[in-house]
Amino acid sequence: MSSGFGLGLRPQHYDAALCPPRRVDWFELLTENYMVGGGKPLHYLDRICEQYPVALHGVSMSIGSVSPLDFSYLARLRQLMQRTGAMWASDHLCWTGVDGVNLHDLMPLPYTAEALEHVAARIRDVQDFLGTRLVIENVSSYLTYRSSEMTEWQFVAELVRAADCDVLLDVNNIYVSSVNHGFDPLQYLHGIPAERVRQLHLAGHEQAGELLIDTHDQPVCEAVWALYASAVERFGAVATMIERDGNIPAYDELLTELGRARSIRESVLQRAA
Ligand SMILES: [Fe+2]
Repeated sequence: MSSGFGLGLRPQHYDAALCPPRRVDWFELLTENYMVGGGKPLHYLDRICEQYPVALHGVSMSIGSVSPLDFSYLARLRQLMQRTGAMWASDHLCWTGVDGVNLHDLMPLPYTAEALEHVAARIRDVQDFLGTRLVIENVSSYLTYRSSEMTEWQFVAELVRAADCDVLLDVNNIYVSSVNHGFDPLQYLHGIPAERVRQLHLAGHEQAGELLIDTHDQPVCEAVWALYASAVERFGAVATMIERDGNIPAYDELLTELGRARSIRESVLQRAA
């Protein structure tokens, strides 16, 4: 299990990643991109996995939906985990559709006891099927539900206990949602059980009127770097990576950004020591 610094691997960087020397500790692979029969993605997949530890990151589990779990998807995920020797597999605390309609978006859940019980049972089913703990990521959101009975961080903390799962904390998503909904992001960090945080995401966002939109097409902003320092204070040396999905820069530019994460973590941990 890596606690080092990684990148979300994108096809633009396949060749740079395979060109020595190794300059990241691990890669996160987008699960669905490799659920294919063959071709370029699988060719690179095997070569990357020979050289790096990898984690899988999916968007299709729809763990919060009321539609039945898709066991053919889960079987393909299990197969991909075996093929890659993945350190862990993550997906989002969201629902992406119902009754065969796919919204192609990561929709937040109402934070109620009923939803908690529902999602926890589904996570346990997935974990039984995969034979390992699932890693669940907090999403950015632009709406909340009147029916919510607890905060998002209370819901996540309860979910970890009820489902016995791990957490991928996206520091940018916490920041984006904190601005959109007016909560204190530090309170969020302090509400999450530290021993279950397996991975941290860092990413960029855009301002659209009064809302922040989680676009993953910008460098990490200063406020998110500051929140990352607080996350390191709280969670220690947890596997950290940069997630970039649009305006993809040169590999070296992402490595420079990742270098900033390394130096923030080093200085926070040194100070703590
Ligand atoms: Fe993320």
